[in-house]
Amino acid sequence: MKAVIVGYGSMGREVERALLDRRHTIVSRVDPSPGCGDVRSLDEGILRSGEVVIEFGASAGVLENARRYGAAEIPAVVGTTGWDGSREAVRTVVEQAGSAYLWGANFSIGAHLFFDLVERAARLIDTLPQYDIMMLELHHNRKKDSPSGTALTAASRILAASTRKRRIVDTKLDRQIEPDELHVASLRGGAHPGLHSVILDSAFDTIEITHTARNRSGFALGAVLAAEWLVAGERRGFLKVEDFIQELLKGRITT
Ligand SMILES: NC(=O)c1ccc[n+]([C@@H]2O[C@H](COP(=O)([O-])OP(=O)(O)OC[C@H]3O[C@@H](n4cnc5c(N)ncnc54)[C@H](O)[C@@H]3O)[C@@H](O)[C@H]2O)c1
Repeated sequence: MKAVIVGYGSMGREVERALLDRRHTIVSRVDPSPGCGDVRSLDEGILRSGEVVIEFGASAGVLENARRYGAAEIPAVVGTTGWDGSREAVRTVVEQAGSAYLWGANFSIGAHLFFDLVERAARLIDTLPQYDIMMLELHHNRKKDSPSGTALTAASRILAASTRKRRIVDTKLDRQIEPDELHVASLRGGAHPGLHSVILDSAFDTIEITHTARNRSGFALGAVLAAEWLVAGERRGFLKVEDFIQELLKGRITT
């Protein structure tokens, strides 16, 4: 594949390594920050010379970037987080352009195994009032959004599997928590690439399900595999990373 990397920060560099490991070609590295990448802005000519875009940029640029991918008819895999407020606007842009846009808050395959385990755990304790469920996430001091997109995905899987928990609370609680609230706490500092822990707790014991990213390369590999899947299948539409993961877990994709 000929790939355009959009956002050449920590993740963009990991994506570059993963692309080269899998013998793909990099057409360009686009990043507005001086000294990052080789091009400052998204130019239609650059986009048209690639077969796929992989974007790990900043939330403020997502909508405008999506417009440009659509105009250049290039499929895109987007890992940028923190743009929940413009989700529907991006969907409209993609659907109007008839392009392919695959997005996700977490491209690590292990994180998706974690989501499945967490959902199962929430279902198991649903009829066991002795057990409560809560979540903690920890990330490096440069992270801009909180809770992380991954924590919100895990939390929504818990809400979907539970009849007891109906709402996510991610603020500091200066009161007792309500039984239908799922508390998601965020911790920031250091250089940690990401830890998410779901805690099942009773008066007798504690069960923890924890996903710890060791580095960023698992996210990058997942994004490159998703790009291969998107391009090879000539898929179209506003797709989620889960659409790709489902195929992967069914053994239909060779990694
Ligand atoms: N989905 C996942 O699996 C996953 C994993 C890790 C990080 N992320 C997300 O990816 C994004 C980038 O993470 P990072 O750790 O590389 O951050 P980073 O700060 O190291 O890099 C971000 C880069 O994007 C550039 N940028 C800013 N505006 C841009 C725009 N409009 N178009 C293109 N590039 C732009 C910045 O100049 C910077 O170089 C964040 O939103 C982060 O939360 C997602």
